[in-house]
This record gives sequence, C-alpha cells and structure tokens, in this order.
Amino acid sequence: MAAGGPAPEPRILLWLGVLLARWVAAESEAAVVGEVHENVSLQCGNISRPRGLVTWYREDVEPVFLLSSNSSLPPAEPRFSLGNASSLHIEGLRLQDEGNYTCREVLNETQWFRVCLQVASGPYQNEVNISATGKLPNGTLYAARGTQVAFSCSSSSRPPPVVEWWFRAPDSRIEPFGNNLAASSFALLQVSQNLQGNYTCVAMNMLSSRRHEVTTELLVYYPPPSSPQCWAETSPGWTTLQLICHWDGGYPEPHLLWTEEPGGVVLGESTLGVQSLKRFQLSNGKKFKCLGSHILGTKSEASCVLQIRSPSLLSDPMKTCLVGGNVTLTCQVSDAYPSAKILWLRNLTQPKVTIESSDHYIISQHGQSSTLTIRNCSQHLDGGYYVCRAENLVGIREVDIWLIVKEPLSIGGVVGTSVSLLLLALGIISVLVFYHNPVFCRKGRNLSREEDNGDVMVLVDSEEEEEEEKEDAAVEDREEEEEHKRVALRKETVRHGHIHQVTALVNGNLEQMGNGLQALEDDLRELQSDVVQEEGGPV
Ligand SMILES: *[C@@H]1O[C@H](CO)[C@@H](O)[C@H](O)[C@H]1NC(C)=O
Ligand SMILES: *[C@@H]1O[C@H](CO)[C@@H](O)[C@H](O)[C@H]1NC(C)=O
Ligand SMILES: *[C@@H]1O[C@H](CO)[C@@H](O)[C@H](O)[C@H]1NC(C)=O
Ligand SMILES: *[C@@H]1O[C@H](CO)[C@@H](O)[C@H](O)[C@H]1NC(C)=O
Ligand SMILES: *[C@@H]1O[C@H](CO)[C@@H](O)[C@H](O)[C@H]1NC(C)=O
Ligand SMILES: *[C@@H]1O[C@H](CO)[C@@H](O)[C@H](O)[C@H]1NC(C)=O
Ligand SMILES: *[C@@H]1O[C@H](CO)[C@@H](O)[C@H](O)[C@H]1NC(C)=O
Ligand SMILES: *[C@@H]1O[C@H](CO)[C@@H](O)[C@H](O)[C@H]1NC(C)=O
Ligand SMILES: *[C@@H]1O[C@H](CO)[C@@H](O)[C@H](O)[C@H]1NC(C)=O
Ligand SMILES: *[C@@H]1O[C@H](CO)[C@@H](O)[C@H](O)[C@H]1NC(C)=O
Ligand SMILES: *[C@@H]1O[C@H](CO)[C@@H](O)[C@H](O)[C@H]1NC(C)=O
Repeated sequence: MAAGGPAPEPRILLWLGVLLARWVAAESEAAVVGEVHENVSLQCGNISRPRGLVTWYREDVEPVFLLSSNSSLPPAEPRFSLGNASSLHIEGLRLQDEGNYTCREVLNETQWFRVCLQVASGPYQNEVNISATGKLPNGTLYAARGTQVAFSCSSSSRPPPVVEWWFRAPDSRIEPFGNNLAASSFALLQVSQNLQGNYTCVAMNMLSSRRHEVTTELLVYYPPPSSPQCWAETSPGWTTLQLICHWDGGYPEPHLLWTEEPGGVVLGESTLGVQSLKRFQLSNGKKFKCLGSHILGTKSEASCVLQIRSPSLLSDPMKTCLVGGNVTLTCQVSDAYPSAKILWLRNLTQPKVTIESSDHYIISQHGQSSTLTIRNCSQHLDGGYYVCRAENLVGIREVDIWLIVKEPLSIGGVVGTSVSLLLLALGIISVLVFYHNPVFCRKGRNLSREEDNGDVMVLVDSEEEEEEEKEDAAVEDREEEEEHKRVALRKETVRHGHIHQVTALVNGNLEQMGNGLQALEDDLRELQSDVVQEEGGPV
C-alpha cells in the first residue's frame, strides 16, 4: 500500500498516527458494547480536562475519517456526532459498526486513544416447540400422561445465545431444568402429573445481557381408568327420576352425554352427568345410555346403559289363619328399577287403607321383599282382601291376597270327611298287608308294648281348608290352590337316625293307589328297625 502513488498529506499523517497508536493502545484501549439500533458513545480517552482538536477514525485496512471537532469538516455520516468531552456518538448502530476506533487529540502533543466497539444483536424471539401435545382453544398445551414430550427452543442472536429451560409447577418456585445451561432441547420420556406447569425457555445474549423468554403452560391430562357407572335415583319428592352417570378419575373432567335408547335422542350433556326426567318421559323397559367423552379421545367402551322397569309382584294369592293365630303375608317385588316402595293396604272398605305397623300388624322389609304379619287373627276383623302395592316412578303394581280366618278344627267339611274315609280304607288295607307279610309280622312282634315306641299308625286327614301345620310353613304354602283331592301318604321310617320317605299320591285312581301301596309294602319289607311310624299328610 505504501508503494502506491503519491498519497495526500492527511493520509500520511494518519498512517503515522496508526503506527503511533500501536504503542499507545496497549495502555489505553477501551472496550464498548453496543446493540444494533441503539445509540452508543465512544470516549476519547478518559480525560476530563478541556480537549484539544479531536479527530475520530475507524481502523480498517487503513484508517477511515469519521468526524472532527473542526466544525468546518463534515462528519462522514450524519449518524456520527460529537458528544461530551469529544466522545463519538453513533446513532442507530449497525452490525458493520463493530470494529476498532481511534481518536486523535492534538494539544501540546498528539495523543492517540483506541476504542474497541462490539455490536450485539438479539435475542428478540424464541422458537419454542413442544411436541406430541394437543392445544386448547386458549393456546394452552396438553399432553397425555405417560407419553413422551419433547421440548426444543431456538433463538438467534449475535453472538449466539445461551438457552435454558425453566420449570414452574403450580404453587412452587421456578427451577432450572437440567444442569446443562446450553441444553436447548430435552425430552420427558413419561410425563407425569407433577410435571404439569409452566415451561419457560430463556435465551440470553451474554454480550449485551439481553434476555428473551417464552413461557408455555403444559397440562398433563389422563382419562378415567375404568368405565362409567350409571344408575337411577328417585328424587326426594318423587317427582323426577335422576339418571346419574359417574366416570371418575380423569383429568380434566370428562363430558357425559345422556341419550335415550334406541334412537340416541340426546337428553343432555354436562360434566356432572346428572339428568332429571319427568314421569311422562318414563315408560317400562326404556333404556338410557350415558356416553363419556374425554379430551384424550373417546373410547368405545366409555358408556353405560340402564333400563328402567316397573315392578313385578309375586305373592301367594290366598292365605289361611286360625282364629287367635298369626299369619304372615309375603310380597316379593322383582324387576323394579329403580327400587320400588312397598305398601300394604286393605280394601275391605273403600277407599283402601294403608296398613301401618302396630301391635296387630308387623311390616318388615328386606330388600325388595316385604312381609305383613297379622297377629291374633280374628274372623270378622282380619279376613278378606289384602293388597300389596309396589310403586316406582315407572309404574305401580298391586296384588290381592285373600286371607281366610278359620276356627281351629282337625276335621271339617265334606271333602275332609271323604278324605278321612279314604284314609280309613287305606288303613284297613294296610292292616291286611301288615298281617300277610312275614317280615312285617316280625316287625309286628317287635312293636310290642315293651318298647318305648308304640306301633301307632297316625293318620291325619288334611285338605285345603284345614291348616294344622302352621309351624310347617313349607307345607302350608303349597296346599291352597289344589282343586282335586290330593292325598299324600308319607311314611317316615326312623332307623338309626336315617329317614326313608315314600310318598304315594292318590287321585281317586285305584290303580295309582295300589301302586302307592305297593311302594309302601316294598319299603316295609326292607325295614329292620324297631319303630314304624306312618303319617298321612298334605303335600
Ligand atoms: C439515539 O439518539 C437520537 C438523537 O440523539 C435520539 O433521537 C434517539 O431516541 C436515540 N435512540 C435511542 C435508542 O436512545
Ligand atoms: C480513567 O480510567 C481509570 C481506569 O480506567 C480510572 O481509574 C480513572 O478514574 C479514570 N479517570 C477519569 C478522569 O475518569
Ligand atoms: C479546520 O479545517 C479547515 C478545512 O480543512 C482548515 O482550513 C482549518 O485550518 C482547520 N482548523 C484547525 C484549527 O485545524
Ligand atoms: C454529557 O454530560 C452531561 C452532564 O455531564 C450529561 O447529562 C449528558 O447526558 C452527557 N451526554 C452524552 C451524550 O453523554
Ligand atoms: C481490533 O484490534 C485488535 C488488536 O488490537 C484485533 O485483534 C481485532 O481483530 C481488531 N478488530 C477488528 C474488528 O478489526
Ligand atoms: C501544554 O502547554 C501548556 C503551556 O504551554 C502547559 O501549561 C501544559 O501543562 C501542557 N500540557 C501538557 C499535557 O503537556
Ligand atoms: C386454558 O384453559 C385451561 C383449561 O380450561 C386452563 O386450565 C388454563 O389455565 C387456561 N390457560 C390460560 C393461559 O388461560
Ligand atoms: C402459568 O402461566 C399462566 C399465564 O401465562 C398463569 O396464569 C399460570 O398461573 C401459570 N401457572 C403456574 C403454575 O405458574
Ligand atoms: C304370634 O306372634 C307373637 C309374637 O310374635 C307370639 O308371641 C305368639 O305366640 C304367636 N302366636 C301363635 C299362635 O303362634
Ligand atoms: C280390592 O281391590 C281389587 C283391586 O283394586 C278389586 O278388584 C276388588 O274388588 C277389591 N275388593 C274389595 C273387597 O274391595
Ligand atoms: C286376641 O283378640 C281377641 C279379640 O279379637 C282379644 O279378646 C284377645 O285378648 C286378643 N289376644 C291377644 C293375646 O291379644
């Protein structure tokens, strides 16, 4: 360069100046950091006294004139101006402004000062990306619990920024995520509930200390673990039926939709899952379906169905009670959904009167089965119709029970008498068999008075109108609606604690009766015990 053509005088001066600066610089070099678009002032040395003639140069391949305190020399660019104590003021910094600057002061002697200007830029924005998440309408991100969530953050600045992630869980302090300050991306392999919170990416320019941060809220969602449960409840005032659907354990609360099946007519949707239905909306057998949907996706099994049913009743149509005795009427409700309330009424008089528990009446209910016990039966007070009524919002059912109150009698009625005669005849036949059978004869001998047990054949005639086995409820329950004569012979043979039973049904058919007797006879042959007891009873 020095070999170039004749250089103008200022240039030679400058060249010398630069050479001079080389040794001055060692002791008085200042460093200044500015940011693009900002203003910066470069001091010409650190001297507070009045200044001499000051000229500013930019060091390039060769010094470039910028500005002089000689006002007759215009600045190289309008961005340059003289500030306090002849400092160089630069407006609207550019990246290209970075470099070495020299100021020359001419006073008693010429002095050179050098300033190193660094221009920083940014960061002004961060690119945050959180993957495998969904986005709520308000911009908040959510991830499914247990999934992998990848975070990345990038930002540009000059010089390149330091990027950090910070995490803040609700109600806790903000904490740095990981130790590596340079880590701008990381992944949570199985995101859990305690990792829900605000994630902040901070990018920092270490030269200018300028920071830029972006906070992203991440919610960790999970669906309920099991299937929805639904049931129906009657409102306290018995005015409405409440369909209730619960699908617990998810976050956020799932949406629950009640529909009418079939058809899928929508009744209502909410997070509560409660739907009230008026009586007119209910009919026997109607089905309702609750469909649960969670933001993480609707599973096909996320539903439950309930069916409302009016009650069905099961009861004996007729009961008998002896005067002064007790009788229990039973009423069994089945199929009612929701559960029915059960009432006992009498309809001897109109209108029907609800029976309350008292000394005379004892009402007890176990589940959907109710019993009414009438104590000390009296003929004119207690005989007649009783009504068992079961009611839910879907429907009402009633069943009538006819109660017969009788004087206690062992034998009564024409039918009873005929049965007695029949049994008497049977007795005679038995006696004949008794004496014709050698085995039985042996038995007959054994059945002597010396033994504790008498050889007594007990014949008890029985018929639908005679209840003598109040204590034997099982027998009693089956005896009432028989229309034809039905005589059962039950022989119990007690032998070493074992019981053999032979039952013969006699329907006025001699052949059958004969068969029955044959069975009786056969069994008797097998007898080896001392005791023979025969008993005829109703079945
Ligand atoms: C830079 O200086 C100019 C003039 O002095 C002023 O108008 C402007 O606001 C300044 N800019 C900043 C960023 O300070
Ligand atoms: C000049 O700079 C030095 C160190 O950089 C400092 O100690 C001194 O106070 C400064 N003088 C003035 C007048 O600013
Ligand atoms: C200021 O600059 C003008 C023009 O270059 C020059 O004539 C004048 O001598 C200078 N003044 C001083 C004090 O250097
Ligand atoms: C110049 O100095 C004055 C007072 O010392 C100060 O208020 C002003 O900001 C300074 N100007 C610049 C451009 O540094
Ligand atoms: C400024 O000067 C130093 C030596 O003093 C040099 O290392 C550096 O590269 C220079 N800067 C520029 C931008 O030229
Ligand atoms: C400059 O010269 C004046 C008088 O000529 C003197 O008083 C002053 O101390 C000198 N300054 C320096 C820095 O030498
Ligand atoms: C966005 O909506 C969700 C759910 O409604 C809420 O939890 C979150 O706080 C909201 N975020 C903001 C920033 O409003
Ligand atoms: C997360 O940031 C949102 C606003 O950006 C704020 O409403 C919420 O409270 C913050 N949550 C936490 C846990 O700091
Ligand atoms: C009827 O029931 C009452 C109380 O349960 C009992 O004291 C009484 O002995 C019963 N009467 C008969 C005849 O079983
Ligand atoms: C009892 O009620 C039933 C059904 O409501 C009715 O058919 C019957 O006639 C009533 N009986 C009497 C005695 O009121
Ligand atoms: C049973 O009822 C009759 C009248 O119906 C009464 O005279 C008698 O005292 C009652 N017996 C008991 C134990 O309550």
